[in-house]
Amino acid sequence: MTLPSRRDLLALGGAAGVALAFGRPLAAQSASPAALTAREAEVQLAPPAYPATRIWGYDGALPGPVIRVAQGGRVTRRLINDLPQPTSVHWHGLRIDNAMDGVAGLTQDPVAPGGTFDYDFVAPDAGTYWYHAHNRSAEQVARGLYGALVVEEAEAPEADRDEVLVLDDWLLDPQSGQIDADFLSRHSRSHAGRLGNLIATNGRHDHAIEVRRHQRLRLRLVNAANARIFQLALLGLEGRIVALDGMPLEAPAPVAETLLLGPGQRADLIVDVVAEPGEDAHLVRVERGEGFSQSRFPVVGVASRARRDAPVALPPNPGMAPPRLAEARPLRLEMSGGAMGRLDAAILDGRRRSFGQMVEANQFWAFNGTVGMTPTPLAELARGEPVRLSIRNDTAFPHAMHLHGMHFREIAADGTLGPLRDTTLLQRGETREIAFAADNPGDWLFHCHMLSHAESGMMTWLKVT
Ligand code: C2O
Ligand code: CU
Repeated sequence: MTLPSRRDLLALGGAAGVALAFGRPLAAQSASPAALTAREAEVQLAPPAYPATRIWGYDGALPGPVIRVAQGGRVTRRLINDLPQPTSVHWHGLRIDNAMDGVAGLTQDPVAPGGTFDYDFVAPDAGTYWYHAHNRSAEQVARGLYGALVVEEAEAPEADRDEVLVLDDWLLDPQSGQIDADFLSRHSRSHAGRLGNLIATNGRHDHAIEVRRHQRLRLRLVNAANARIFQLALLGLEGRIVALDGMPLEAPAPVAETLLLGPGQRADLIVDVVAEPGEDAHLVRVERGEGFSQSRFPVVGVASRARRDAPVALPPNPGMAPPRLAEARPLRLEMSGGAMGRLDAAILDGRRRSFGQMVEANQFWAFNGTVGMTPTPLAELARGEPVRLSIRNDTAFPHAMHLHGMHFREIAADGTLGPLRDTTLLQRGETREIAFAADNPGDWLFHCHMLSHAESGMMTWLKVT
């Protein structure tokens, strides 16, 4: 068999052109978008001594299918809701049209059981993103409604393999192995969020990938957990971070001792296998000074005698000039509340309530003294306006603040601008300044990605006109 020559391919393209010229109406030509079905499924999450766990997954898979698209390409998916609950899909970290952002109650109506919604957008930036449910998220994400979305560079960096690793923890009933259904738990809402008792990568507690010594892997890490902060290290692997939250770093940074990944955050690593054949390399999860295998990489051979040269930086994404700090509008966000906090009253549903009354309403947190979404945004910004937002975490817990639709830069203590991010992790008592140009028009959510916190007060929004 011979492959068609380039000339033949061009000729085929021409033939397609002729068909178009016969002029069938455009609507008839565009096939309906690929389906993305949110539905119940059973997966063997816990060790084999347990029965399968009933989850909610996209196309019944855990994680949902990896959606891959070339940079500048279009993503079209018809969400089909086969769940017993209304839902929507948010495309986390993508700078897309506001109408496609998938926030039920803000950018679209929730999709009722049996209903559909067509998502259709262009992916302007290469990198590692993810999609997840954005209605009753503390429940729906905990049940498994998420997947990775990879936007490929025109020229991919040199690597032998490209692996997506979605990290999550599951709160399972230790007897039945089923998902704990107390999604409104007061404790989760008022403390560190819903933390699981089974930790997994790509839905497996014993996740493993066979590799060879001196192989180079691109690892795309996604933290899909409701609240867990993953502290990660490498063993038998040597690597550099080339991107955070999808966006390339100007210079690859060595994975120092550990890498912190808050809920919603991503990190792209380029790692070389340095363990010997017969050994296991690991992505290590560090908890209270102890290491656990988050993913195991059994070394089954040798790929090459020598290691490769250090990886180079990924090409930057378009239109990411640093914001003009001198002209930036100052904004502030004071985070308060929660257990062991010092909030004694806040505005809830337009009325001043004591903390005790908030607790009765199962609401625990406030932004600038107000609980949850308000009819008016935190700020109304002109398109392109530079903003400098100071966030103070005056609570006893860490929070991962996520801005929809735009990336920002963390301002370092010395005033320099850090890497682009869409989610920033604030430890208890910490203050962080971020800066960005409000260049994407629409209504954009700004909330804690500890999803139980978001649903008990930590949610606001920005309007870009
Ligand atoms: Cu990844 Cu508003 O969420
Ligand atoms: Cu939080």
